[in-house]
Amino acid sequence: MSIKKTFAITLMAVTLSAAAQTPIYLDHTKPIDERVNDALSRMTIAEKIAIIHAQSKFSSPGVQRLGIPGIWCTDGPHGIRPDVLWDEWDQAGATNDSCVAFPALTCLAATWDPEMSALYGKSIGEEARYRNKNVLLGPGVNINRTPLNGRNFEYMGEDPLLSATMVVPYIKGVQDNGVAACVKHYALNNQEVDRDHVDVYVDDRTLHEIYLPAFKAAIIDGGAWAIMPGYNKYQGDHACENTRLLLDILKGDWAFDGVAISDWGAVHNTEKVASNGLDMEFGSWTNGLNFGASNAYDDYYLAKPYEKLILEGKADTAMLNDKAARVLRLIMRTEMNRNRPYGSMNSPEHYAAARKIGGEGIVLLKNNNNLLPISPDVKKILIVGENAIKMMTVGGGSSSLKVQRETLPLDGIRAKASSKGIEVNYERGYVGDVTGEYNGVTTGQNLNDERSAEQLIADAVRAAREADMVIFIGGLNKSDHQDAEGADRLSFDLPYNQNQVIEALVNANPNTVVVNLTGNPYAMPWKDRVPAIVQGWYIGSEAGNAIADVLFGDTNPSGKLPFTMAVALTDYAAHADGDASVYPGVDGKVTYKEGLDVGYRHTDKLPAKRVNYPFGYGQSYTTFALGKPQVSSNQLKGNDKLTVTVPVTNTGSRQGAEVVQLYVHEVKSKIDRPTKELKAFDKVSVKPGETANAEMTIDRKAFAYYNPETSLWTVNPGRYELLIGNSSDSLPNKLTITIPEQISWRDSE
Ligand code: BGC
Repeated sequence: MSIKKTFAITLMAVTLSAAAQTPIYLDHTKPIDERVNDALSRMTIAEKIAIIHAQSKFSSPGVQRLGIPGIWCTDGPHGIRPDVLWDEWDQAGATNDSCVAFPALTCLAATWDPEMSALYGKSIGEEARYRNKNVLLGPGVNINRTPLNGRNFEYMGEDPLLSATMVVPYIKGVQDNGVAACVKHYALNNQEVDRDHVDVYVDDRTLHEIYLPAFKAAIIDGGAWAIMPGYNKYQGDHACENTRLLLDILKGDWAFDGVAISDWGAVHNTEKVASNGLDMEFGSWTNGLNFGASNAYDDYYLAKPYEKLILEGKADTAMLNDKAARVLRLIMRTEMNRNRPYGSMNSPEHYAAARKIGGEGIVLLKNNNNLLPISPDVKKILIVGENAIKMMTVGGGSSSLKVQRETLPLDGIRAKASSKGIEVNYERGYVGDVTGEYNGVTTGQNLNDERSAEQLIADAVRAAREADMVIFIGGLNKSDHQDAEGADRLSFDLPYNQNQVIEALVNANPNTVVVNLTGNPYAMPWKDRVPAIVQGWYIGSEAGNAIADVLFGDTNPSGKLPFTMAVALTDYAAHADGDASVYPGVDGKVTYKEGLDVGYRHTDKLPAKRVNYPFGYGQSYTTFALGKPQVSSNQLKGNDKLTVTVPVTNTGSRQGAEVVQLYVHEVKSKIDRPTKELKAFDKVSVKPGETANAEMTIDRKAFAYYNPETSLWTVNPGRYELLIGNSSDSLPNKLTITIPEQISWRDSE
């Protein structure tokens, strides 16, 4: 035998024996669950305990001995948070952690476009991946129960179907990068007042019909690899320690196979958390939520105290194995996934995505005399308002970012205007929040202005008289008691005297456009006097460009409101009676007495004049005519699917997109039901003079209610109307569907 041949045989033997020795958990050709079980079988109790709780603010350890890597989490949900110190919230001081800020999730929801959601998920997932993060703490899908909730800007509006539809592509886009989406805050985390302990009581039907569908869609349709139980309690137990939420519903009915990761500091009790379904603990201090001198990871509820219970035989080892197995599965899906892409950051594509999503989410509420888009006759524009010059990516709580760049509204408008030879001047109008710092990230802006409120208005009015057009850019901001984590708004009104500023401007110059950047609805006492109103959001890095695109008509607005803009706070059911036990709670307890009456489900029962702008509403610079809808059958049985087709003709002169919306109304119901509920929608882009079809598919789910007595989704036989149009208050087209026999099914089916 030649030396060459002997060498080859030896090499083959070595390779084969190495392959034979590759432990299953490291063998990427094997199914994940086989690898998980193998890894688990090699681990000690201490190692299992170690991987189910944090080792730093945002990371958990792997198994060093076995070469299993740990996990890094990041906020979420609008961009990748800058790195903080190992043990503190202060900045780590890294220089490679500036990101693209994508629009707030309210803006994404306002696009009513699942393709935008997919683009968002893909883009933010790529940023997370490039930064080597394994779990993105988002998206948030808590329903907007009250417009005072400080965190509504991180959520997707008031409607369960809209949120459920929009959350799924976001999750898939993120996870295609080998990064887990951690959908939050599960569940009933609908206010920030007393957020760490508020105990929510809600009837079962409302829970299943309003507050759970978006989470369910995230898990079942989106396949989310992680979920974050929130701070609040549900029926006496914290969400992180809640058997009903975690074991019965999440892991039982929805067969969730991922990891339930506690909100930061949301765990309070070892015994409960050991057996009630939480898998991983983050953010605790030595004594739960109380702030201590430092973190003490070994003292976490799921650390030494849990190990002690296990060793004493007082906690179930099968539960520990289940938690550890889930964490291992998460590691294999992310950090140990060899096929994941490498990601990218701050790319032109990401900026383009942020601008596109922002532009598609902006909602044109009013446009008398076609004041918008800005006419070529306009030669001099006055911009007024703090939000035109304030960086809004810093602040608001855990979603605060450190951006590579942020185009401010004034700069975006100015850039576009100057290319058209238009002069742009600026006046402040009011002073709101001049701070610009979060966890050590500073905007570097000096927004101080010593002028009195009267002087600020007088100066703005003087300049307004000399302009061809005034654009007021105000709204809320990310400071405490505005749109921010940790506290709710104290009032439904716009803050800082803005109503007075707007009135003064429109008196001085009738060509005044109001653009409000908020994450919530607000009172609009000036609505009838202002000729054009635009609802903007926290749009992120490309805010100024996306707003300028819409104002100048490069983007034809196509956003629709993801929430009801009612006239007064009392037009929202949670505030209708001023009952403190309904909001913000009495003795730590909140009862959702309004039941299903959230948003339009409530205002539908009020006189129309109680709503300024309805859910689903938004104008365009073109006009559309909806043709006669067709349905594939006017009868539905069992698991049938019905396809509804609606021709949409663009009757104006520019390309535009319309969101066709389908609501279901039961003609004669045996049970109390909302007048109508959104059950499908489709956004179609149409060229002038052309017609495109909107297509919507519905099935039994569109007609069902949740029967709390039987725990079954139930469709009663009878007649149902499909109400079709382009806003919840404009549904001129009707189809009638007959359901001949009762249909019912369990959530787990
Ligand atoms: C927030 C979460 C966030 C976590 C980590 C908590 O205070 O409620 O949404 O993901 O902190 O920053």
